[in-house]
Amino acid sequence: MASKLQTRRREEHQRYKDDVKREGKSFFPYAIYHDTVMSLVTVAVIIGLSFVWYFTADDTPEGEGLEAGVLGPWYAEKADPGTISFVPRPDWFFYFLFYLLRIFKWPETVVLGTVGIPTICLILLIALPFYDRSPERRPLRRPVAMVAAVLTIISMAVLTWKGATAQEALGTEIIASGEVDAWAEEQGFADNPVAVEGAELFAESGCLNCHVYLGVGNANLGAPDLSEVGATGRGVDYFKDYVSNPAQFGNNVMISYSYLGDENLTRLATFLDASRGGQQSEDGG
Ligand code: HEC
Repeated sequence: MASKLQTRRREEHQRYKDDVKREGKSFFPYAIYHDTVMSLVTVAVIIGLSFVWYFTADDTPEGEGLEAGVLGPWYAEKADPGTISFVPRPDWFFYFLFYLLRIFKWPETVVLGTVGIPTICLILLIALPFYDRSPERRPLRRPVAMVAAVLTIISMAVLTWKGATAQEALGTEIIASGEVDAWAEEQGFADNPVAVEGAELFAESGCLNCHVYLGVGNANLGAPDLSEVGATGRGVDYFKDYVSNPAQFGNNVMISYSYLGDENLTRLATFLDASRGGQQSEDGG
């Protein structure tokens, strides 16, 4: 005896066969033909757009003002490998992934946001034809699928929105808002220009993407709060050494900041050393 589901599926199949007989159109070649024509149209539109982009954009050399065509310039400005204030942001259609990653702040859980959840979702999607075998197609008769689809759309919309509006600890903003002066005041290094320069560098160099300093920044990847990092009196040289080569201290999360140059490293280290939660440093710095 065939099961209920099997009977139903046979009925559906029979209905399809009858439809084909009545309408006189089978999948091959009619549907295939439709798909082929639509694919060609899509490709033709893309090729057309690339022609429009190429021939309307101006190829003024760099520095003389790039004239954008209808679809944007040939090339944007050259990337600056030495930048220390660039805040990387993904394209808008990746904001949901971008924000998902921000939810998982701790090193052990980052893999969940980057690999775990997206992979699970993809597997669920690929396996869909195997676990959802009901021939029913009317949305109202498919409550589970409908709820799952609506929840997916809502969560992606919320994550995209959160990703689009997420605040970055942008150094220039922090400096412009007078935060660095407030730090100097609170930590008592306002009279030490090297430390103040170091504080600005600290804000500009992306340190606050991982570290929190006096309530500013993001605690990411297990990075400690640096508000009182100088309190143990390890000294300027120690911090210089640390920041220029964190790996030798077993820190493989932080990159080496030796590219900032010796002078800047001294500024950073002086600032870190002067960060003692208001106590003056012993060497008067
Ligand atoms: C990608 C994230 C990240 C960035 C960016 C980052 N750090 Fe770190 N930093 C860490 C982590 C994680 C630790 C802790 C490592 C450990 O516990 O071994 C740490 C530790 C430190 C320590 C040692 C703290 C202590 O008490 O021993 C100092 C100092 C430090 N960071 C300074 C900086 C400075 C200055 C910058 C910017 C120039 C910076 N960090 C940028 C992740 C980061």
